[in-house]
Formats: sequence, C-alpha cells, structure tokens
Amino acid sequence: MQKVIAIDGPSGSGKSSVARRLASYFKITYIDTGAMFRAIGLFLDQEGIAFEEGPELKTALSKLKLEYAVDDKKLVVINGHDVSTLIREHRVSGLASVVSQLPSVRSFLLDFQRELGTKIVCVMEGRDIGTVVFPQAFCKFFVTASVEIRARRRYDQLVEMGQSDISMEQLIEDVQKRDELDSNRKLAPLKRAEDAQLVDTSRMNLEEVVESLASIAREKAQAIGLQL
Ligand code: DC
Repeated sequence: MQKVIAIDGPSGSGKSSVARRLASYFKITYIDTGAMFRAIGLFLDQEGIAFEEGPELKTALSKLKLEYAVDDKKLVVINGHDVSTLIREHRVSGLASVVSQLPSVRSFLLDFQRELGTKIVCVMEGRDIGTVVFPQAFCKFFVTASVEIRARRRYDQLVEMGQSDISMEQLIEDVQKRDELDSNRKLAPLKRAEDAQLVDTSRMNLEEVVESLASIAREKAQAIGLQL
C-alpha cells in the first residue's frame, strides 16, 4: 500500500480546494500535479520549444530542473524561475492540456511525482494519480461536478485574479474541450479508478465535502495501521 490519498477529477470540480483542505486537516503534504504540467507547458512556450516529441523536447527535459514546494510561497520553480503565479493564467491551462499528451513529459513527471510521494504521507491531486502514478494508494477519490458549475467556479476564480475579459459561454466551451482532451488521450486519460470513491460536489459546500472525505480517509488509514 502507498501512503497517498489520491484525488483525481476534471478541472473545476473543486478537487484542488478539497485536496488542499484535506491535507491541512490531517497536517500532511499537499501535492498539486496539475501545477507541474502547467509549469512545463509555460516553460516550453517561453523557450519556443515545439510541443511535439523529438530530440529538442528530450534535450530540454533532460536539462530541466523542476522544484516543487520549495517554500510556502514558491509552489513551482523551473530552472530557477518561480512560476507559481504565472501558471494560473488562463492561457496556461491550454498549454498544460497539450503538453500533458506528450509521452516524454508524462514520463518525466511520473518519475518526479513518484519520487515525491513515496517518501511521505500526502494528498496528491491530478488526473491519473489513482490509476497510474499510485495505483496502490490506500485511499482514492474521484471528484466531479457538472460542466456549468465547473465553468462558473473557473469564472469566479479568473475574476478574482483580475481577468474578467472572458465570457461564461467561452468558459463552458473551454471546460468541455479540456474534458474531451483529458478523457480521450491515449496516455493516462482522466478516468475513475475502479476502487475510487465518486464524489459529486455540484450541490455540496467545501466543508461538507472535506468532512466526508476526511472520515473515509481516516477509516481507510486505520485499516492499514496508518496514523493520520
Ligand atoms: O488540474 P489543472 O487544471 O491544473 O491541470 C492542468 C492540465 O494538466 C490539465 O489539462 C490536465 C493535465 N494534468 C494531467 O494530465 N495529469 C495530471 N496528473 C494533472 C494534470
């Protein structure tokens, strides 16, 4: 058994907020794997490296130094540059979705995530944590919500960040497009692991979701003799 609480689900399902809160509830590390794909997408874009398999990408990845949660303020540092804020820009969501389909990027991040998660007890959040990265995780959740609710949450987030130049219609379309890409890609597609508990957050508030997940996680931890 791996001492990881795996939380997967589509964008805007609320899984990041839930994962972060759950980690702080148990005082364990929170790992946001989407932030890593975002950082690599941003980096390749900034360096003008083509988003395709080939020697250029392989060389860039072999030289890449990725650091996660260096301190409280720096979530992701890539080749010495703190990109924690930049990766939240709307355009970076699209870049991340495209790079996440490249086998060498997935393989690079798979090693990175496994290395991070094997040493500690953590909540790791993404699309393929319960299916590919930590298939033996002791506790798995698949968090989802309706497309409209997910687009609305994203809209509120962007407005809060001062980016209000995007319409709800556009966001609904973007959410659907990303779901399509994430669920249908060949490698590590977004899908619920058979043993993952399904959580629909459309009509639940954050507190309710966290409480319910915490009690399930505690039970599962007890069953394997893990003190949470
Ligand atoms: O969770 P997010 O929106 O920050 O993720 C950004 C992109 O990265 C999203 O298109 C899906 C991809 N991703 C992935 O393929 N596998 C993961 N474990 C996490 C994210």
